[in-house]
Amino acid sequence: MTEAANILPANDENLSAAATRLKSGGLVAFPTETVYGLGADARDDRAVARIFEAKNRPSFNPLIVHVLDLPSAAQYGEMDARAQQLAAAFWPGPLSFVVPRRADSGLSLLVSAGLDTVALRAPAHPLARNLLTCFGGPIAAPSANTAGEVSPTLASHVAQSLGTNVDLILDGGACAVGLESTVIDLCGDRPALLRHGAVTLEQLQDVLGVVDDATRPADGQAPRSPGQIARHYAPSIPVRLNASDAVAGEVLLGFGSGVPEGVQNLSPSGDLTEAAANLFAALRALDSPEHRAIAVMPIPETGLGRAINDRLRRAAEAHNG
Ligand code: TXA
Ligand code: MG
Repeated sequence: MTEAANILPANDENLSAAATRLKSGGLVAFPTETVYGLGADARDDRAVARIFEAKNRPSFNPLIVHVLDLPSAAQYGEMDARAQQLAAAFWPGPLSFVVPRRADSGLSLLVSAGLDTVALRAPAHPLARNLLTCFGGPIAAPSANTAGEVSPTLASHVAQSLGTNVDLILDGGACAVGLESTVIDLCGDRPALLRHGAVTLEQLQDVLGVVDDATRPADGQAPRSPGQIARHYAPSIPVRLNASDAVAGEVLLGFGSGVPEGVQNLSPSGDLTEAAANLFAALRALDSPEHRAIAVMPIPETGLGRAINDRLRRAAEAHNG
């Protein structure tokens, strides 16, 4: 890290500067009661792609979308009776719900890593709430650290980990909880705990009755991380990688210059951030029974290209036995 990160004390002026940054597609780190989050406008594919780039994540995991309250959560996800009961008991607070994504949510597809579900949380930290109010929209935010590092609980941790990869860090002192939020999956008939946190399994069971513990491996199985539990989005037709062109019945997904006119192109200029932002929408657009397969042109295995290729390989493998 050569340049110093931009840490600002959390006053009204800096909050409004942070909201302005978010509105223009920037990245803002902010404190929540659990850990510091690396925030971007959850409706902006390009801004969300920048989160993955800044964290240097080798894969696209779905991110938590931060909202003020239950009514705003209900704009983006289907908040059924169970979600409403849990929100009444624990929101605002360190609990995230994975729920079906509303078709009219307007959220970035990248925020859900292409899935039909979304994780929503209303944080309790006053600074996070002020930022949500100032910004006036949903904020996607994973923990504000480089992939593989522990989550930051001080503004200085964020600065050390992300440096100038983040446009601005709002300093709100130490995070009270210091552990990531509890994640509960409400998409199935039986609620399932995906990640332990300050809201405990017992507390959730007190409200809902039965809650499965999906954080524990089934007998004889290796532990699963929440990222693995999330079913990965894959097109319903096969995907062929490193294609130079489409053969009979295939549809081509291009990258870079030199892609024929009229072909869907992840990024004509070869920009990996733009390609990541377009990836899931492009796959969905081409995922039609009228095509035999999607032939994808080579994507460089550098920076965000690694996460793009990871997802494309999974999509390709989904049809290889
Ligand atoms: O405390 C927290 O939750 C912090 C603060 C900043 O809010 N955020 C955080 O986000 O820890 P992140 O991206 O590091 O973790 C999100 C977790 C991941 O384990 C992810 O797999 C899971 O939530 N998750 C998010 N969306 C999901 C989805 N649609 N389906 C299944 N799991 C999901
Ligand atoms: Mg994390």
